[in-house]
Amino acid sequence: NKPIRIALLGLGTVGGGVYKLLSMRAQEMPQIAGAPIEISHILVRNANKERPGVDAALLTDNWQDIVSDPEVSIVVELMGGMEPAHTYISEALAAGKNVVTANKDLMAVHGGELLDLAEQHHCDLQFEAAVAGAIPIIRPLKQCLAGNEISEIMGIVNGTTNYILTRMTQDGMEFDDALAMATELGYAEADPTADIEGYDAGRKMAIMASIAFHSRVTFEQVYTEGITNIHATDIRYAKEMGKAIKLLGVACNTPEGIEVRVHPMLIPDSHPLATVNDAFNAVFVHGDALDDAMFMGRGAGEMPTASAVTGDIIDTARNLLMGCTGRIGCTCYKELPVKAIDDIKSK
Ligand code: NDP
Ligand code: HSE
Repeated sequence: NKPIRIALLGLGTVGGGVYKLLSMRAQEMPQIAGAPIEISHILVRNANKERPGVDAALLTDNWQDIVSDPEVSIVVELMGGMEPAHTYISEALAAGKNVVTANKDLMAVHGGELLDLAEQHHCDLQFEAAVAGAIPIIRPLKQCLAGNEISEIMGIVNGTTNYILTRMTQDGMEFDDALAMATELGYAEADPTADIEGYDAGRKMAIMASIAFHSRVTFEQVYTEGITNIHATDIRYAKEMGKAIKLLGVACNTPEGIEVRVHPMLIPDSHPLATVNDAFNAVFVHGDALDDAMFMGRGAGEMPTASAVTGDIIDTARNLLMGCTGRIGCTCYKELPVKAIDDIKSK
């Protein structure tokens, strides 16, 4: 088969990881994906910056070069933020290009509209890396667990805050020092407020709740409380009580409506989530047929996130070769009511 051409938008922590992983697997790609996967463009803000190990001829700061190139069949958005990511993804789908993204900010607000656009143009829009880094959770919710009525999803879905709480608990590290380390390790968002205030976890919970409950939950409907009020004394008292403080996300399908919240919780040391440390994430899912399942792995960082993005690229490439892109969307057929934040807060 002839090579499948892809464009990377962004070459930061995640984009750099995807570039490396695709280079590492280049020889095997015809067997894995069915065709070679070639990067034809890399969009960055500064195309003149030195980027060791990267073919400078691929760099561009001009989106039109990409969207107007008929040879580009997969656009991989790894810039982050709302704009220009929203415009570029919409234009790519409208031009019949498949899209892979790790952008939870965007998917948590405009996911429904973008998935509808993808369906309209028979394109794939894949976003496994947008929730819980390397852990496969979007595809299991959409496909493997589709026969279940899912009633609850709960877990640790932000690597930065879990890393901070782990360092504060295990090493007595100060909050600010632990956050600086998480940033250095590539876990934190460009603006880490999203991590420490629980917004990033809230976005991921909104995405999972939408898929699991066949409804639309947006970030604005999620109650969020971060970890900025957790101090060394709280951690000490928790330890004395045989408990751990974790930032948890919870999404439940209740008779009164869907409830989605993120806040710190005290959990017993004997609970499996208490042993999920550093930048690891874990997601529990309860379904009527499956009972309980737990998914665990690295929730952030260069190569773990590249693992999820690359999986989506390969899956899209296979769909392209089989002529079946746009096959599996996320149907929102129930449109269940979502509880008001004030009602969740007052509980
Ligand atoms: P970085 O800040 O490290 O990289 C962003 C990249 O995008 C840079 O290469 C930057 O270019 C480029 N970029 C930003 N804005 C523009 C623009 N307007 N035009 C062209 N290029 C642009 O981000 P990350 O790699 O950490 O994150 C990327 C995405 O992945 C985000 O959506 C994030 O939420 C998500 N994600 C991140 C994870 C992680 O562990 N870091 C895990 C899971 C998801 P330049 O290099 O020139 O500055
Ligand atoms: N900042 C995010 C986190 C990256 O720490 O979990 C992965 O989504």
